[in-house]
Order: sequence, then C-alpha cells, then structure tokens
Amino acid sequence: MSGFSQYAYIASAILFCIGLKMLSRADTARRGNRLSAIAMLIAVVATMLSSGLSYPWIIAGILIGGALGLAAARLVKMTAMPEMVALFNGFGGIASLLVGWAEYHKGVSNLDAFGSLTIVAIYLAVLIGGITFTGSLIAYGKLSEKLPGKPYLYNGQQIVNAIIAVAIVGGGIIFCMNPTAGAAYFLFVLAVLIALVFGVLVVIPIGGADMPVVIALLNSYSGLAACAAGFALETPNTVLIVAGALVGASGLILTNIMCKAMNRSLANVLFSGFGSGSTATAGAAVTGEAKPISADDAFLILESARSVAFVPGYGMAVAQAQHAVVELGNLLEANGCEVRYAIHPVAGRMPGHMNVLLAEANVPYEQLVEMDAINPIISTIDVAVVIGANDVVNPAAREDESSPIYGMPIINVDEARTVFVLKRSMNPGFAGIDNPLFFKENTRMLFGDAKASVGALIAEFKELA
Ligand code: TAP
Repeated sequence: MSGFSQYAYIASAILFCIGLKMLSRADTARRGNRLSAIAMLIAVVATMLSSGLSYPWIIAGILIGGALGLAAARLVKMTAMPEMVALFNGFGGIASLLVGWAEYHKGVSNLDAFGSLTIVAIYLAVLIGGITFTGSLIAYGKLSEKLPGKPYLYNGQQIVNAIIAVAIVGGGIIFCMNPTAGAAYFLFVLAVLIALVFGVLVVIPIGGADMPVVIALLNSYSGLAACAAGFALETPNTVLIVAGALVGASGLILTNIMCKAMNRSLANVLFSGFGSGSTATAGAAVTGEAKPISADDAFLILESARSVAFVPGYGMAVAQAQHAVVELGNLLEANGCEVRYAIHPVAGRMPGHMNVLLAEANVPYEQLVEMDAINPIISTIDVAVVIGANDVVNPAAREDESSPIYGMPIINVDEARTVFVLKRSMNPGFAGIDNPLFFKENTRMLFGDAKASVGALIAEFKELA
C-alpha cells in the first residue's frame, strides 16, 4: 500500500474518532456526522486510488448502492428508521461475509497463502457477518411487523443454541488448524450456513419490544465483522480495521446504555423472552377513573403556568407533532413561561429518537434537559405535558415491585404540579402494561392525536394574541 493511502487512512481514522466523540452531544452531533462522512469519503477515495481494482464493477456498485441509499433516505419515514438501521447492519454483515469468503476462495489452492491470523480473521468475518445478516433480517421483520413481534420460544431452545455455538467454535478451531485440507472447503461452507441459521435462531426468541437493543448489538457485530474482514484481506486494510473496531465498541456501549435505561441486563434482554405474555401482563392491577380535559380548559391552565416541561415519547414521532410542540413552546415562552423539553434515554424506538425530532424542529439545545437533570426539579414545574409518552413516565416502575418495568428509571412527571397526557386512548405503550399515571389526582388526559391536540392549544394561544 502506498504511503499516500496510509496517511489518508490515518487522517480518516482520526476524523472518525473526533466525529464519534461529537455525536455524543446534541449541539455537536450534526457536525460530528458531517466530519465522519468526510472521513469515509477520504477512505473511499484513497482506496479507489489503489492499484489493481476493477473499476467498472466498483462504479456500478457505487451507482446502484448510491441510488438505493438516496431513495431510502428520502422515502423511509422517521418512525421506520430503526428497521432501516437493522437492514443496513445486515448489509454490513453480508458484505464482511462475502469479503471473507472471497479471500478464502482466492487463497485456498495455495498452501502458503494463509497466515494463522488471516485464516482466523476470515473465519470470524464469515461467522459474525453471517449471524449479523440473518439476525438483522429477523430484527427488521419484527420491527416492521412483517413478522410477529412475540418471542418465539420452544422447549430446550437455549440448549439447542448452546450446542450450535459450541459446534461453531469447535468447527472453527478444526478449520483454522488446517484450512487447506481436502474437507476444509466443505467445513467452511457448512460454517457459513450454520452462521446464517444461527442468526435467525438467536433473534427469534427476543420480543419486538427489545428489538432496538438487539439492533444496537447487531450494529456492534457488523463492526466486529468489518474489523475481521480488514484483517482477512491479503493486504490488511487499516481503515476498515479501525472503523470496524469503532463501530464494534460504540455499538456495545450503546447496548449497555439502553439496557441500563430499562434497568435490565443484556442477558435478560437476550434470553428472558420479554413480551411473551407471561411477563408483559404482570404487575398490580391499575384501577381508578381517568380525568379527561378539553383543549380549552388545558389552555387556561397553560396560559397561567410559569414553568412547563414537555415530555415527548413515541406518540410524538407517530403524530409527527414535533414542529407543533415547538411552536406551542415558543408561544408559552412569549407568554413569560419557562419551557423545557425533558428527554428519556429510551423514549421512542431508537437511541436519540426524541433528540433527532426536536433538533429537526430547531429546539435550542439549552432547552433540552436529560432525565437526570429534570427529575430533581420536576416538583417545581407547573405543568408537565406528556406528548405520546407512556412507559417512560409510568410510575409503576418506581412504585410496583411486581411490574415488569420495576426499577426502570422514569421521568417522574407525576411529581409535577399538574400533568397533561396527550394520547389517543387508554391503551398501553410498548411494554404492554397499564399506567397508573393516568389515574393520579393531578393528571388530566387530553385525548386525541398529539399533533391535533397541540394544534388546538396553539389556536387558543393565537386567539388570545
Ligand atoms: P410508548 O410507551 O411506546 O407509548 C407511546 C404512546 O404513544 C402510546 O401509549 C400511544 O397511546 C401513544 N400514541 C401513539 N400514536 C399517537 C398519536 N398519533 N398521538 C398521540 N399519542 C400517540 O412510548 P415511550 O414512552 O416513548 O416509551 C418507549 C418504549 O420503547 C419503552 O418501553 C422503551 O423501553 C421501549 N424501547 C425503546 C428503545 C429506544 S432506544 N428508544 C429501545 C428499546 C425499547 P395511544 O395509542 O392511546 O395513542
């Protein structure tokens, strides 16, 4: 590899690290994204300038892939973003599988072609890539409701999976010890098939509710597969190794953050069959009478409020109410009210879901408040306006030890002076459990589509002006 490529790869690796760091803060995330895209461009151009490439194939690939990517970016709805990420992870996995397979195929007739590191890297790229590919397809199917979201469980499932895992490791050791023996190619293809089947088997027992965590984990796997593919190449590719390792590590960190925010371990997410029916309906019976409120009456309370905290959830994304919410926030501010937007780490259906929507609606970053910052001051808030959120404000997580979400940190909106809950019905949220918040003394239910309800409040404010 030329000196130029090496320098370009180092530059893009540094830019990836800086970009990733910037993604961890809402106010720098967009620049971080742009920086990482530039880093990828540098890496692609440097690779394209390498000798011995088949340009017609590469250009055809760029054109087809670029067109599909552009169409997906334009057509896919924000609420369907998690399943698109699932598909992208899967494509990353199959790409690494094919790179590993191509490298093995190229060198299989030459006994000296494989160093021991290379053959282990090839096996890992193919294995992790295969599991990531089919696992991601199942995650896509469950999230898009093309497959049933319920966990698919059967007796002895974990034993079957454990046996396959042992077979994959054992077969890998035999294969790597003698990768060019007569039966090695057969063993290799068998490993590919088993990896593809294993991807399906490890994801089907996980319920749709836990798919976002699975996607973060599969994202990490796709990075690890790419990292292994970087080592598997005849001339190891530094930038693929670095970028793969970054994706692998950050995916794992994200998985951990999501598990913590739900107060569950990764093992519980992967093996408990959460949402199979027995767990999701547990918890103390929730009774009482919910108190509906009209937009007119809600307006009168908001009009005299000095502090308001909006708490958005998945329903805001479904209603696409973010612009209306921010417009209402601006009207409240103009009326002398202090406005905050309180964000729960797992509100919505993907990490940073609410941040993305509110950033799109140009909420000033200083008004975005994290759960840990809002909870200590929530009792001083006049009105907490819950916009299509449910599980992330469910006090059962704090009060009901028998609840499946007991221990999950929530935004304690019930401690605000008044709570408005904007949703269409009394239906539960993603976890499928009832919410005692709706029956609290200080809660009023503003029923209807979130965008329409917020629109009605805006109209009242405008009439006042
Ligand atoms: P949910 O608990 O899913 O509640 C969303 C609520 O929005 C529903 O109760 C629904 O009630 C309402 N809604 C839907 N469409 C609406 C519309 N057009 N207008 C008004 N309301 C509407 O959402 P959440 O509070 O954001 O919690 C997220 C859930 O996803 C948690 O259980 C979390 O653990 C899980 N989860 C999230 C993630 C990430 S990374 N975000 C990862 C894993 C799991 P109606 O049908 O009555 O309107």
